[in-house]
Amino acid sequence: MIFKSHIELKQITVIVNLKHYNNSSGSNAANFLKPFRNLSIPSGCDVVFALNPIDVRIASDFPELEFVSQHVDSVSYGAHTGQISIEALKDLGIKGSIINHSERRLTPDKVRETIERANELGFQITVCCESPAEVAQFSSLQPHAIAYEPPELIGGNVSVTSARPEIIQETSDICHSRSVRLLVGAGIKKREDFTRSLELGADGILIASGVVLSSNPFDTLNSLIVNL
Ligand code: G3P
Repeated sequence: MIFKSHIELKQITVIVNLKHYNNSSGSNAANFLKPFRNLSIPSGCDVVFALNPIDVRIASDFPELEFVSQHVDSVSYGAHTGQISIEALKDLGIKGSIINHSERRLTPDKVRETIERANELGFQITVCCESPAEVAQFSSLQPHAIAYEPPELIGGNVSVTSARPEIIQETSDICHSRSVRLLVGAGIKKREDFTRSLELGADGILIASGVVLSSNPFDTLNSLIVNL
């Protein structure tokens, strides 16, 4: 079941944020990802794994999967100790990045600079926003996507779709009036949370603990997207 507006508009996106959980990053990242090589992804859906920057090099071991980084800086190659350039990520086959996550906030100027560089370089930025005001501010810069995530719900068991339905509708209107995709996240655990987000006007979700910390991450992700 694909929602009609999404057939007309574009693909539905599911970003699985691996964060810096022990079982999904560092020396465990590759083992975490291996089962997903067998994931059957419906044609109307993109499943994308957001890797911690220390793990982006393993993307080339999983050519059947799609990846973004959890962060990128607005610098190019050069004397930038500890920073991550769009160019380096592109050279590693990474097509985009989340920025401004509630756990990795940037100044508004850095958000703007990064979106502008990314748009010049054909790199897909998903800007996390904590409020409708931020959605309005950053969607005007034409990023690839906005992700609305109320910080107080991140990692919890109350889904953004049940706690903030009116804000999803509001932010969806803002983003779509500017032809920017809207994802939503925080507290999403079940398929009903996901399908509700689509009904409310989102183009997809960001999910972390609901998949990564579940007893069977493959089965959990599969149950979200199967027969979508
Ligand atoms: O980036 C997604 C994330 O912040 C949501 O986390 O654990 O509530 O799905 P979680």
